[in-house]
Amino acid sequence: MQKLIEAVRGARHVVAMTGAGVSTLCGIPDFRGPQGLYKQPDAERIFDIDWFDRDPSIYYRGAFDIVYALADYTPGPVHVALKRLEDAGKLDGIITQNIDMLHQKAGSSHVYEVHGSGILHHCRRCGAEATFGEIVAMLKKGGRPEGSAGVFVPRCKCGGPYKPDITFFGEALPEEAFLKAQELSISADVMLVLGTSLTVFPAAGLPRLTLQRGGNVFVVNAQPTPIDDFCAGRYEDLSEFADAVLAAFPAPAGEKES
Ligand code: APR
Repeated sequence: MQKLIEAVRGARHVVAMTGAGVSTLCGIPDFRGPQGLYKQPDAERIFDIDWFDRDPSIYYRGAFDIVYALADYTPGPVHVALKRLEDAGKLDGIITQNIDMLHQKAGSSHVYEVHGSGILHHCRRCGAEATFGEIVAMLKKGGRPEGSAGVFVPRCKCGGPYKPDITFFGEALPEEAFLKAQELSISADVMLVLGTSLTVFPAAGLPRLTLQRGGNVFVVNAQPTPIDDFCAGRYEDLSEFADAVLAAFPAPAGEKES
């Protein structure tokens, strides 16, 4: 990891791009890893807008643990390490594909959620807005199960189902977040790609923007990624990455070592 650490030390602009792998250390399953969510049959329907409009209970059943049980999860070592880099003035921002809001929970302040999040939900029929807390309360109250999965679907007063502001397959990415992510990728001297298979475009194309501008990309991921042959450093263990960062960049005075 020393080469990665030295590159971060010497860089003017560092950006991190994270995927579901950084949250497996918190107990949240990823999608394509050995125990990934997508190993379940028909799992790719969970975050698909056409299937949601056909039967929203497919989403509410399939995503319950990773979206609505988030109160049970706390940030993991990589989230803490990236907050430490920000405190050390060595991180311009985090581009995340994750919807678990754990970077914010860890205190990171420049987080760009290119696949949205469930912090807000909107009615598919009339567009009425509901907060994450309101939806969790509706789910807790439970109620008449519906759909093939016998699962409660939170509905608006107009009867339409609430959909989270998570980017489903078949939907456009949140424009503002993605534009910022492109900006950060273009200006980065170093991009840290952490815990992502880089299989879902256009997010997966962001590291190429850094490479095209002569920046260095470091990958920390257990499985191979499409840019492995072009990166300046390739590692597999995210816990080792977190330990190396925490050792190299001590906590600011007054903050306890985590
Ligand atoms: N250490 C190192 N790598 C890990 C660890 C770990 N502890 N845990 C998981 N990984 C790696 C896996 O090997 C896998 O390659 O993290 C990667 C996670 O890849 P995916 O499951 O494909 O997740 P991600 O890349 O974030 O998916 C992108 O796909 O379903 C859509 O919108 C969803 O944002 C998601 C997008």
